Amino acid sequence: MTVNNSPALLEIVNLSHSYSRNGGAEPVLRRISLSIRAGELVCLIGRSGCGKSTLLKIVAGFLAPTQGQCLLAGKRIVKPGPDRCVVFQEDALFPWLTVRENIAFGLGGSSGTQRRLETERLIDLVGLEGYGDYLPRTLSGGMKQRVALARVLIRSPQILLMDEPFGALDAQTREEMQELLLRLAQKRNQTILFVTHDVQEAVTIADRALVLDRDSEQIGATVPIALPRPRNRSSHDFQDLCARLHALLRQP
Ligand SMILES: Nc1ncnc2c1ncn2[C@@H]1O[C@H](COP(=O)(O)OP(=O)(O)OP(=O)(O)O)[C@@H](O)[C@H]1O
Ligand SMILES: [Mg+2]
Repeated sequence: MTVNNSPALLEIVNLSHSYSRNGGAEPVLRRISLSIRAGELVCLIGRSGCGKSTLLKIVAGFLAPTQGQCLLAGKRIVKPGPDRCVVFQEDALFPWLTVRENIAFGLGGSSGTQRRLETERLIDLVGLEGYGDYLPRTLSGGMKQRVALARVLIRSPQILLMDEPFGALDAQTREEMQELLLRLAQKRNQTILFVTHDVQEAVTIADRALVLDRDSEQIGATVPIALPRPRNRSSHDFQDLCARLHALLRQP
């Protein structure tokens, strides 16, 4: 999916973050620098509490870093914006809106035929044909995440930020969602920063995995995942990469 010589879209420069706690400062991220090219799918992995969600929130503009900066297409990120969209694990759809209305909500104030056409196109794209009139409570977990994905894709963000979006799904649904995401990402040359605990998920979808280390609060390793697609989970190369990432996560 990666175009190797495409320019950097997201640049994180010398970024540190501390939360204030009990009158003191608790460091979480320390002097992190990285860049993500346009069209690249990068997975951020790391043990619980290492700061993955914190980094994503900073890129989303929900949280200002203590030090350093993030640039998107050369422009400093200072607040949330339509060029960045986030999908969380349990995405909060509006319970009183139908699938169609939830997805159209992403388009904001635009109205009319174009809005309707675009909404129907997205419903089809995520495989929810026929479910436009359903309310979220009548959908399965996988279907809700399809709506969550459509709702952000309709905004054509420059970068999609995903925080364990498939973490609550059963194994089979999770694999279907990974395939769907890959298809859509490829079709739209979508840049994605994807947080996951799951090493196998990272090796299935990523062009590159970044291992965030809880003790040093830095990116401990960058591992290119240069396997052909679609990836064969039973191949030696696939298993080797999983083992390598597991070992990196386990490092004291
Ligand atoms: N709002 C906050 N105020 C104070 N401390 C926080 C806040 N949010 C997170 N932290 C702390 O910062 C650290 C990193 O949290 P973060 O949620 O970024 O981790 P994570 O890598 O996403 O973990 P997980 O894999 O469990 O989701 C943790 O020690 C957490 O307790
Ligand atoms: Mg998290």
